[in-house]
Amino acid sequence: MVTAKRLEGIGEYYFSQKLREIEGLNKEGKNIISLGIGSPDLPPHPEVIKVLQEESAKPGNHAYQSYKGSPVLRAAISEWYSKWYDVKLDPASEILPLIGSKEGIMHICMTYLNDGDEVLVPNPGYPTYSSAVALAGGKVKPYHLTAANNWLPDFDALDATLTGKEKLMFVNYPHMPTGKLPSKAFFSALVAWATRHQLLLVHDNPYSFILNDQPMSLLATEGARDVVIELNSLSKSQNMAGWRIGMLCGAAERINEVMRFKSNMDSGMFLPLQLAAAKALSLGEDWYRQLNEIYKTRREKVFRLLDLLQCSYAKDQAGMFVWATVPGGYADGYALSDEVLYKANVFITPGGIFGSEGNRYVRVSLCCKEENIDAAMQRVEAQLMSKGSLAS
Ligand SMILES: Cc1ncc(COP(=O)(O)O)c(C=O)c1O
Repeated sequence: MVTAKRLEGIGEYYFSQKLREIEGLNKEGKNIISLGIGSPDLPPHPEVIKVLQEESAKPGNHAYQSYKGSPVLRAAISEWYSKWYDVKLDPASEILPLIGSKEGIMHICMTYLNDGDEVLVPNPGYPTYSSAVALAGGKVKPYHLTAANNWLPDFDALDATLTGKEKLMFVNYPHMPTGKLPSKAFFSALVAWATRHQLLLVHDNPYSFILNDQPMSLLATEGARDVVIELNSLSKSQNMAGWRIGMLCGAAERINEVMRFKSNMDSGMFLPLQLAAAKALSLGEDWYRQLNEIYKTRREKVFRLLDLLQCSYAKDQAGMFVWATVPGGYADGYALSDEVLYKANVFITPGGIFGSEGNRYVRVSLCCKEENIDAAMQRVEAQLMSKGSLAS
């Protein structure tokens, strides 16, 4: 079959390919330790699982659900935004539950883009922004984030490149993959800039609770309601990546616009899942504290692994990864990642998959048990350092 033109240039997602290769290596007995993907290995809170079990045992809970999501989940999202971000959202009109924020990225592109509309996308950034823009017929316009500019957009440089065809801008702070945290001043400048250029800002906010004591929403910024829609997710902060629960928040008009597309694509999520998600969002400070204690301990070990690899990194990164510069002896992050994979049987992600500005970096996931990070260090020491094959 000839596939549709819209798939031209869209490859298989990097991780889907790489995980297949790793599976092959494992079949050869390599037992690869993967520090690649950001899928939490820890379970959700037991009370959340209990709600799912109890609710799914009820005969009346298996029907199609409302396209706008259960009122219980929308109320829980509204309370969560109010409690943690100090943002007031009307549960009836300003919230749309999603099957993860990844699907929301596609829905937003399909809702707003005509052929040739330009979309500002971070480089480095989450690869799905670019593929969703391309699939929807839009044109990706990368904006560069560099260590020299603190991984923030350079608004002056951006001004010089605008053509007037830009319609959306994807932003994501805490930023994946660099771990850069936002500040209030940056968020204010961003909203002012988007207002001036009449761009719709799509803020993707799945990491605000991970290794960060002060979760922020871009919607809390003055004037944001007119130019911002925000995606959020239970995948990382509630350890529910496989459950597929996210949300879109913003002005009622924007929610209705995206609903026009989404309601033609799928139906409401399984009710017990939504009720369990509502429970997860009601968890208190203790939940986030114990989660972050675990990630902090893991991060210390990952720092030591990166020291062994002679990589440099900032210690104040948020989110569930550490972003690190590769040492001078390697052509790029791919070369280091390949050497570590093929010689030490440890997988770390090359930064280049997030865009050209990531070429000289690697990203190490914290979604891995401490003993596996210890084992990864031992393998690197045994296979790379003692044999002197580590380029430097
Ligand atoms: C920046 C970013 N946005 C969105 C997602 C997708 O999250 P979800 O599981 O809610 O679809 C990820 C997942 O890795 C991510 O890193």
